[in-house]
Amino acid sequence: MRMKENKVYIETYGCQMNVADTELIMGILKGHGYGLAKELDEADVVLLNTCSIRDNAEQRIYGRLGNLKTLKNSNPNLVVGVLGCMAERLRKDLVEDKKIVDLVVGPDEYRRVPEFIDLAFNGEKGIGVRLSKTETYDDIIPYREDGLSAWISVMRGCDKFCTFCVVPFTRGRERSRSLKSIIDEIKLLSDRGFKEVSLLGQNVNSYLDGESDFSDLLASSAKVDSTMRIRFTTSHPQDLSDKLLHTIAEHANICNSIHLPVQSGSNRILELMNRTYTIEHYLNLIDKARRIFPEVSFSTDIISGFPTETEADHQMTLDVMKKVRYDGAYMFKYSPREGTKAFKMDDDVTEEVKSRRLQEIIQLQQKISYQINQTRVGNEEMVLVEGLSKKSDEFLSGRTDSNKVVIIPNDRNIKIGDYVKVIINRATHATLFGNVLQNTASAQNRLALTG
Ligand code: 5AD
Ligand code: SF4
Repeated sequence: MRMKENKVYIETYGCQMNVADTELIMGILKGHGYGLAKELDEADVVLLNTCSIRDNAEQRIYGRLGNLKTLKNSNPNLVVGVLGCMAERLRKDLVEDKKIVDLVVGPDEYRRVPEFIDLAFNGEKGIGVRLSKTETYDDIIPYREDGLSAWISVMRGCDKFCTFCVVPFTRGRERSRSLKSIIDEIKLLSDRGFKEVSLLGQNVNSYLDGESDFSDLLASSAKVDSTMRIRFTTSHPQDLSDKLLHTIAEHANICNSIHLPVQSGSNRILELMNRTYTIEHYLNLIDKARRIFPEVSFSTDIISGFPTETEADHQMTLDVMKKVRYDGAYMFKYSPREGTKAFKMDDDVTEEVKSRRLQEIIQLQQKISYQINQTRVGNEEMVLVEGLSKKSDEFLSGRTDSNKVVIIPNDRNIKIGDYVKVIINRATHATLFGNVLQNTASAQNRLALTG
């Protein structure tokens, strides 16, 4: 008689790297005969893929583990595991002290997840939190549901050591996957009908495989399928090369949107953050990119209330936002992380001031996004249709090359995955609305993207 297949449910927290890692872990588990549970209540094993970038991310996960403890009390056979960035920190607290968790596996030991689950079924704890200088999981095919858009991690770790950031400690040293394995993965996705891939890394511009740098990887990725959009994130302002800008400009299917975190507008704060560039360098880069391809759009990350940040420093951040006019921004309050250099600095900006500055940053960004979107009204945009609109089945939702959400009326001639030419007739700070001019699906796809 066949043994019952054990089913694993994975919950993912944090960044897109973690989403990609979850797919990798699912690939590993599938390869070892595990099933994947769609719902928590059909699972024999629950794994949380965790994030430690800011304290509130960690607090959410602690809260979730509290729920799982209750569940485990009523179902003692349930195996609970913690994966990812919090693994090292949680190890002592949860496995040794509080005993909720059966396995703890850090980002470089995912190959051992099946082994640790087996141990847990036998009542033993499994811990694998060593970091590796070489692990890239090159040979593993991540498990993905069919869809339009896929995230591919092209490198792991980070060597930048920004003073506020735990990533170099939780994910270890920077290393790149082989170009061939990435291209093979994109080919498989293209064959399955995917229409967009996002190449992921903490700092993709330092990608290196032999002689091939990130520009070479982008160019090769773009050539796999000209109807497939290629996106990438995140770029560090220190390493964004002219070659990369030209590569983006030369390929119609490499999206003209660059995520270029600025973090602060003050050179003094940037130095304390160890960001290794000045605002002048940063603004020059933006100007250069706009000269090469004027339609380029930028998004950014901003931290408010880094230690010693004054009102004048904060104003400089607002000034940079006004100068660059980002299409979008991820905006955060500074959160001290144990083990980082900044943790030793006095967290001297009060919570109240951090919140107020963050609000000012958010409000300014919303105003700028609104204004930029208004300038799109009357424009024609090529939209990749992604699905029904969240609010109503009478509308479809898609995205432009610059990653803006566009809502169009539903039409049975339009299928998910089609490219349609849309005229924009209305916009909010977050969304564009328009009508379809032309459905450029199937044979027209190539023309649509290049034309
Ligand atoms: N506090 C606040 N924001 C942080 N980030 C990274 N570490 C911290 C921290 N300690 C932000 C940065 C980074 C993004 C991924 O998260 O803006 O670019
Ligand atoms: Fe963290 Fe800086 Fe590396 Fe980004 S570049 S992951 S902020 S250390």
